[in-house]
Amino acid sequence: MAVQTPILNHARLAAGVEAEREGKPAGYVLVTGASRGIGRAIVLRFAAEGYAVAITYHSKRDQALEVAERARRLGAPETIVLQLDVSSPDSVEKAYHRLEAEWPYLNVLVNNAGVFHVGGIEETTLEDWEHVIRVNLTGVFLVTKTFLPMLKRAPWASIVNLASIAGQTGNVAASAVYAASKAGVIGLTRRLAVELAKYGIRVNAVAPSFVETDMVQMFLDTPEKRKKIEELHPLRMIIQPEDVAEAVYFLATPASRAITGHVLSINAGRFAA
Ligand SMILES: NC(=O)c1ccc[n+]([C@@H]2O[C@H](COP(=O)([O-])OP(=O)(O)OC[C@H]3O[C@@H](n4cnc5c(N)ncnc54)[C@H](OP(=O)(O)O)[C@@H]3O)[C@@H](O)[C@H]2O)c1
Repeated sequence: MAVQTPILNHARLAAGVEAEREGKPAGYVLVTGASRGIGRAIVLRFAAEGYAVAITYHSKRDQALEVAERARRLGAPETIVLQLDVSSPDSVEKAYHRLEAEWPYLNVLVNNAGVFHVGGIEETTLEDWEHVIRVNLTGVFLVTKTFLPMLKRAPWASIVNLASIAGQTGNVAASAVYAASKAGVIGLTRRLAVELAKYGIRVNAVAPSFVETDMVQMFLDTPEKRKKIEELHPLRMIIQPEDVAEAVYFLATPASRAITGHVLSINAGRFAA
């Protein structure tokens, strides 16, 4: 049977849902690859609304612990820090058992972890290809499939995947394998939106252009390069992780309860130009 998502009552929101919660989390959220960049901003956005947050890292444990500390200060009633390699079935399984032991269910899964890749097809090795596909695409499959039982148990649930403008157009700096991995994420999002609708689980994606994080620092590390990136976008701006987090928050929570299978472009007007 489909899970019912609550219709937002804005008068109730204004009166203060906070007071009604009596210290209980607003919901339970897992963000993969949350030690830095966009994942970090997403965790902090949910923390500020009183959600319990699970923060996964791949190699940067200290940074993930700092994100957890900041999330608690912002209002997250619970934080869990987990090591996770999204490309490893064993690692994903281990993370699932840890979370299942601590939380009753999962309201929101954000498949954010990813790796970047540049270079032409002539320089791309089979090893590069397999690594990027394994983390960016197979990782979304593995994490979604493994955490599905916890999402199905929740009173409302949704998934947001991090795609990219590189999955929507070939006119970008990323390599073909990165573009293919993100186009794959878009296909996966649309198909899962249809497939999981029977459980009331919505599945959406965001597709950002350049966002100021470590991932694309090589395009933003001089004033000249920054100007070039700004000029690519009609809004003449460099998109920040918080801009993406805001869109993810909207797509993940019941405010967007009638939206599923959607890919929200966050590209400062690039498609309008
Ligand atoms: N920045 C952009 O311009 C941009 C644009 C469009 C889409 N995106 C997408 O947005 C997402 C976040 O990107 P970002 O810019 O925030 O990247 P980032 O700053 O490089 O952070 C990447 C995150 O993914 C984690 N990670 C890497 N490999 C992993 C693995 N095998 N298993 C689990 N976690 C892994 C990293 O963990 P550790 O730190 O612990 O190593 C880190 O937390 C990615 O999917 C990316 O493709 C980014």
